[in-house]
Amino acid sequence: MATKDNNKRDLPEILPEHIGFIMDGNGRWAKQRHMPRSFGHAEGGKTYEKIVRYCRDIGIKYISFYAFSTENWKRSSEEISALMVLFKQYLAKVQNYYKEEVRMVFIGDRSAFAPELVELMNKVENDTKDFDKMTMIVALNYGGRDEIRNAAKKIAASVQKGELSIDDITEQTVADNLYTKGIPDVDLLIRPSGELRTSNFLIWQCAYAELYFSDVLWPDFLPEELDKALWAYAGRQRRFGGV
Ligand code: IPE
Ligand code: IPE
Ligand code: MG
Repeated sequence: MATKDNNKRDLPEILPEHIGFIMDGNGRWAKQRHMPRSFGHAEGGKTYEKIVRYCRDIGIKYISFYAFSTENWKRSSEEISALMVLFKQYLAKVQNYYKEEVRMVFIGDRSAFAPELVELMNKVENDTKDFDKMTMIVALNYGGRDEIRNAAKKIAASVQKGELSIDDITEQTVADNLYTKGIPDVDLLIRPSGELRTSNFLIWQCAYAELYFSDVLWPDFLPEELDKALWAYAGRQRRFGGV
C-alpha cells in the first residue's frame, strides 16, 4: 500500500497501490456544449494529464488508463482519426514530462496502429523504462478478452515446444503472459460518466478490485473527484474471500 506524502490536501492514510481509470464520458461532455465529440476527447486528454500529475504527487505507484478499446473501432472513422491524432500529439510531447520520472507502459495490440505511432510508443517505453516515481499504464487497442486469448496462445505455444507441461500451468503462468506482466493487480477501479460496467478493461487484474462509479463525466473528473474515490476506498473492507 502506498502511504500519503502530501500535506496540502486531506487524504486518507491508506491509499491504493494501483488505480485503474476508465476514461468515459468525453462524447457526452462535448454534446452538452454542442461541440463535436473530438472536442470532448481533447478536454479528456487534459484531465488525464492532471490526474497523472496528481497521482504521482500523492505517491500512487501504479495507474492505468483505458484510452482505446478493441471495441472502439466500431466508431466513425472521423472520431477514430481524431483520437489517433490526439495519441500522436501526446506521445510527441511526452518528453517534456520525463523530469517527473514516470515509467510509461502501453498495453494492447499495437499491430493495428500506424507504424509511426508504434515507433513513438516503443521509444517512450524505452526512454522511461528506468523511471521509478510511478508506473503509468495506457491501454490502447486493449481488450481484456483479447489479452487472455493472447496469453492462452503463448502458453499453448510453450506447451507445444515442450518448454512447459500442462500440469505446471498456474494462475501465475497466466498473469505472466498478460500485457501487465510484473504489474500488481488493480486495487481501485474508477469509472466516471454514470455507466455501471467495466467494458472489458483489465478483467483478470480487477478480479478483486474495489469498484467506484461516479456520475461526473471524464473531462470534469479532476483531482477533487479522485479524492472522493480515495476516501471511499479507504472506507472499504477488503476480504479477498476471507472473513
Ligand atoms: C471516452 O469517452 C472513451 C474513449 C473511447 C476515448 P466516450 O467517447 O465513450 O464518451 P461517451 O461515453 O460517448 O460520452
Ligand atoms: C470504455 O468506454 C472504453 C474506453 C474508455 C477507452 P466505452 O464508451 O467504449 O464503453 P461502453 O461502450 O459504454 O461500454
Ligand atoms: Mg463511452
